[in-house]
Amino acid sequence: PIEQREYLVNGEMRQWAGKTQDVWSPIYVQTPSGLEQKRIGSYPITNPEDAMEILDAAVKAFDHGRGEWPSMSVAHRIECVEKFTQQMITKRDEVVKLLMWEIGKSLGDSQKEFDRTVQYIYDTIGALKDIDRNSSRFMIEEGIIGQVRRSPLGIVLCMGPFNYPLNETFTTLIPALIMGNIVMFKPPKHGTLLHYPLLEAFRTSFPAGVINTIYGRGNSVVPQLMESGRIDALTLIGSSKVADKLKKMHPKVNRLRAILGLDAKNAAIVTESADLELAVKECMLGSLSFNGQRCTALKMMWVHESLVDAFNKRMSEEIGKLKLGMMWEKGVNITPLPEPNKPAYLKELIEDAIAHGAKVVNEGGGESFKSIVYPALVYPVNKEMKVWHEEQFGPLVPVVAFSDIQEPINYLIESSHGQQVSIFSKDVHQISELMDVAVHQVSRVNINSQCQRGPDGFPFTGRKDSAEGTLSVTAALRSFSIRTVVATKE
Ligand code: G3H
Repeated sequence: PIEQREYLVNGEMRQWAGKTQDVWSPIYVQTPSGLEQKRIGSYPITNPEDAMEILDAAVKAFDHGRGEWPSMSVAHRIECVEKFTQQMITKRDEVVKLLMWEIGKSLGDSQKEFDRTVQYIYDTIGALKDIDRNSSRFMIEEGIIGQVRRSPLGIVLCMGPFNYPLNETFTTLIPALIMGNIVMFKPPKHGTLLHYPLLEAFRTSFPAGVINTIYGRGNSVVPQLMESGRIDALTLIGSSKVADKLKKMHPKVNRLRAILGLDAKNAAIVTESADLELAVKECMLGSLSFNGQRCTALKMMWVHESLVDAFNKRMSEEIGKLKLGMMWEKGVNITPLPEPNKPAYLKELIEDAIAHGAKVVNEGGGESFKSIVYPALVYPVNKEMKVWHEEQFGPLVPVVAFSDIQEPINYLIESSHGQQVSIFSKDVHQISELMDVAVHQVSRVNINSQCQRGPDGFPFTGRKDSAEGTLSVTAALRSFSIRTVVATKE
């Protein structure tokens, strides 16, 4: 087990003597007293007083933009981030192992998450060099010379999600840092320990106070930070409810920049002209990769009535081929879920759907075991069911049949979510008709492919309750900075 007792503040690795949080892996192991979850370590639970002291250090490090980091040249900041990344790469095996054990991500997906993160950092550096060149551009108009300068926002409170605890955290943390902001970093509850091997690299790569860590339950430390009014930017990948609550705590919410990746319920619309095999392949990936625990996952399949039986049959066959098992097993698809209440919640959604007239189409295909949940394809889903409205965030595939294309269109319009949609069709006129509607409801329309965030150069955001601000390489650099025009009279 890893017993983390250090936290980083003001460039110092401080020893924690207070309360700690035990970390349990989502896997169950056989012990003499029966099946038990495996304890893999512990980490500090920052108390509110310490969090405020850490915030003081952060505010001092920023010093109204006059601190060492915000006033440093872009080239020098890039050097620090490069230094950090080189050290991070040497920790790959340790971090990957913790990703597997802490959140139940398969070995292959954990390695991908690590490598994608490193690539993201290098892409960010490349994009910043471009932005930096452009920001020194002069505009001359009516005897006035204007020069645009990009400045940091100030103190960024950075909170990542459990499903991509490294990658999605770094897609906010790195652009925030490299633009000269000071970061207060709180890793997700499931996915804290994996950041521990990187703490020393943070300490030695950046000037004192640039990155400061807080740990534990968000609801005990974060409210005080928000209420202090000294957080300039909130970045959270998580639930809309939590984001709303936190924003409201800030006394000057109009001055708070929020960069948020929130709830989503992306739909697949499989029209009568769709290539069935392609739709099945993409819907399998879209709904069940990493056990359906992706904000971009397909969470509602709308299938034309002429194809729905064939679609359900082929999806059930493909689900039957999935390998359930442990993160390190070769070829494993479905792994343990890290949220302890998730298996019971999924069961509740299924029972509710059955009570309202649906069936588990692939019943009997495989067995769930504790935290490993065999995917269920539920059909026909309707508005009365919880799964119609709630984001299942797990291995549950709801299918709805439609006869008129207006039905999925109405679903998109009525939904409070607006991240992405996938359209499966060979009919260009129908694609164009659906696109005309979808572009007003979601931030990305995928034609004949699943929903996803990558390539990471594409802007990543959402409409309605699904996001605020935009992430991904270049967009994130803009999100974590502000432009000032220096106007000089000729
Ligand atoms: O959970 C949300 C992630 O941003 C999804 O990313 O589409 O690359 O799996 P992904």
